[in-house]
Amino acid sequence: MEFSGDVREAISLSRNAPLGPPPLCSICQHKTPAFGKPPRWFTFAELELATGGFSQANFLAEGGYGSVHRGVLPDGQAVAVKQHKLASSQGDREFCSEVEVLSCAQHRNVVMLIGFCIEDGRRLLVYEYICHGSLDSHLYGRHRDILEWSARQKIALGAARGLRYLHEECRVGCIVHRDMRPNNILITHDFEPLVGDFGLARWQPDGDTGVDTRVIGTFGYLAPEYAESGQITEKADVYSFGVVLVELVTGRKAVDLDRPRGQQCLTEWARPLLEEYAIDELVDPQLMDKYSEEEVYCMLQAASLCISRDPQSRPRMSQVIRILEGDTIMESSHMSTPGHDAHSRSGRMYPNHQQQHEHFSPASLKDAFDSFSGKLSIDANMRPALRERNRGRRASCENEL
Ligand SMILES: Nc1ncnc2c1ncn2[C@@H]1O[C@H](COP(=O)(O)OP(=O)(O)OP(=O)(O)O)[C@@H](O)[C@H]1O
Ligand SMILES: [Mg+2]
Repeated sequence: MEFSGDVREAISLSRNAPLGPPPLCSICQHKTPAFGKPPRWFTFAELELATGGFSQANFLAEGGYGSVHRGVLPDGQAVAVKQHKLASSQGDREFCSEVEVLSCAQHRNVVMLIGFCIEDGRRLLVYEYICHGSLDSHLYGRHRDILEWSARQKIALGAARGLRYLHEECRVGCIVHRDMRPNNILITHDFEPLVGDFGLARWQPDGDTGVDTRVIGTFGYLAPEYAESGQITEKADVYSFGVVLVELVTGRKAVDLDRPRGQQCLTEWARPLLEEYAIDELVDPQLMDKYSEEEVYCMLQAASLCISRDPQSRPRMSQVIRILEGDTIMESSHMSTPGHDAHSRSGRMYPNHQQQHEHFSPASLKDAFDSFSGKLSIDANMRPALRERNRGRRASCENEL
């Protein structure tokens, strides 16, 4: 099959394909790949065919590791094919086994790794195609429309669910993402987010694959303990996710050298404002007043805990979701789960089914929450107080002018 045109056309042609899971995107009927299959080993020729010979028309972007092209497989599945620009045959076997493990990560909010190609020193990864770009392009990039609050809330919750799945629910054990940031959150036209590029971040083109303590990630999103010592746990992802939440609320980049001093590093600028819940100062001015104050409040609460300097004080992703949903606010001293984090220090990925059983039956989760003595609910008393404080802040600013 020759493919060189619009991927949407190809997707619509595939609408009559045999029934699988429901489409992820209601607009372009983005088809979710069937779950439960092992990764496919593609030949280079198959991928050439799928991408119209890696044509310019199918070129999506040049990412950190190489070029990305869209394509369509003979069964109608739309894919994004990533070519590592400096591939080598070093570590091929580890690469294969890593791909095998990571392709087990299958969740509505996780970009599925469908397969790979290793041929003549080339390495390519084949992912399901996500139709509406990455979060960064919507927050401060080429997609010009303002990202509405409802979309931001949906993206925060969906991405949190994707990350919770990787950390707490994936059957191969905990997968630490290592590079959680808006570029790696892909979006459908319905603003359903999918977390991509997890785990494989350490597959650098130089073939050096065995060093677990090397810091991989992006400045502005790195947890302090990870930046300092390279020790990676899922709590480093939680920190990065907290930065993403601050970006969603403020519409600011994690690092923006075009801003005045003191505002270039988002976390440093936002930390004192988060402590005061200074909603007016924090909320993206582009949103005007079109946002839910309660949801913003919950997102700021979650963000504030996630970017705690002490990793033990950061919540786990299941707790972040509860906060985002407005269920619970917890004091940071109750965030760590003794015994859990200790397992996670040494590596990016560690099979440990015990952790999952220990914490994630609905009953035990409820028990865990009930046992937090510092538990508060966002009650009716707090919300007016918050509004009052913001009104007060506004008034005092106006007086100063
Ligand atoms: N599965 C996918 N579906 C659709 N588009 C994708 C997919 N994966 C990547 N892209 C597109 O390719 C771009 C580059 O992705 P890539 O992951 O290579 O680089 P990045 O995320 O910007 O940086 P890094 O290389 O550090 O991950 C993304 O911004 C997105 O537009
Ligand atoms: Mg990426």
